[in-house]
Amino acid sequence: MKRKNSQINRRNFVRHSVGAGVGAWALDRLPKTEMSSQSRSAGGPIIMTSHSNDTASDAMGQGWSILAGGGSSLDAVERSANVIEVDPNDSGVGNGGLPNENGVIQLDSSIMDGKTYNAGAVAAIENIKTPCSVARLVMERTDHVILVGQGALDFAISYGFEEVDLHTERSRNAYLRWREEHSDRDDYGPPDHLTAPDGEEEDYDDIPFHYGTTNVLAVDSHGDISGITTTSGLSWKINGRIGDSPIIGAGLYVDNDIGAAGATGRGEDVIKCCGSFYIVMRMSQGRSPQQACEDAIEFIVHKYRNVNPNFFPSEKFVAINKDGEMGCASMGSNRIPSMTVRNSDGLRIEEGVRTQYTG
Ligand code: GLY
Repeated sequence: MKRKNSQINRRNFVRHSVGAGVGAWALDRLPKTEMSSQSRSAGGPIIMTSHSNDTASDAMGQGWSILAGGGSSLDAVERSANVIEVDPNDSGVGNGGLPNENGVIQLDSSIMDGKTYNAGAVAAIENIKTPCSVARLVMERTDHVILVGQGALDFAISYGFEEVDLHTERSRNAYLRWREEHSDRDDYGPPDHLTAPDGEEEDYDDIPFHYGTTNVLAVDSHGDISGITTTSGLSWKINGRIGDSPIIGAGLYVDNDIGAAGATGRGEDVIKCCGSFYIVMRMSQGRSPQQACEDAIEFIVHKYRNVNPNFFPSEKFVAINKDGEMGCASMGSNRIPSMTVRNSDGLRIEEGVRTQYTG
């Protein structure tokens, strides 16, 4: 039986008031309540990531050391994202990410420099541990924005990147178990389907499924803003599928006059609503980063509500503005969304808002 995205229970959805402007026509159709949260005001320089684990803390520490020394937000986000990308225990990003349906790990990554309004990305790149650094070279050493597949790999190799097997024992085992379980119409699987040779039942319930992804956003002491989104993408995806992460405006967007936003979750939803661009445009209309992240969730909910009332998006958005205010919102997860933040006040994990639907 093919494993599908787990059905998400119907939830209560809190509608926050929105201002006029792009998307307001759609958002106004949703039920309204008061704002439940404000953006966290922190002030720059500041760096944050949508990840919240030990590696994220390490990553923020390393990025902060650049910012605290007067370095650029671009260098800071790259350093931090690299720390997360090379972590072999992270099955959603870079090294050790979960592979596609053929067992091949294909990575998507983008970078955007608010100061120059330039961007670069790689999509479906294989065998490179730090795809965001390849994306940076696309941005800085070419006049293109996205390189894909073999072309992206050839480009990386030409700059001296080492080709490596991105599989860990964990990611390979997860793939092999997924392949055995995902169909009862092929020849993979233990004899007598789901029965191990020694007669004991195999437990297939723990095969992971996720969209992975991390965002790193920063404002430096000059007020320049940069961002990175990087991922191994949807686990078990069709060979060649790319998500929102390498699409500027979808998985990442930065405007030095306003702020930055990044997305995790089901890339197909984020691509269609230009999620990160939408959030930055909402901030340009006076919405706080927190409000703008929630606006994007609501926008997606509204669009799908017309098509399938039982569909709930799994996206999580993070945003930061030029003043160092941050926002974080998600829907469809049982967990409160969070982000790891580092500035002159120290390192901390901040909770965002999980929006809920009452319609
Ligand atoms: N957001 C990552 C993906 O959909 O691939």
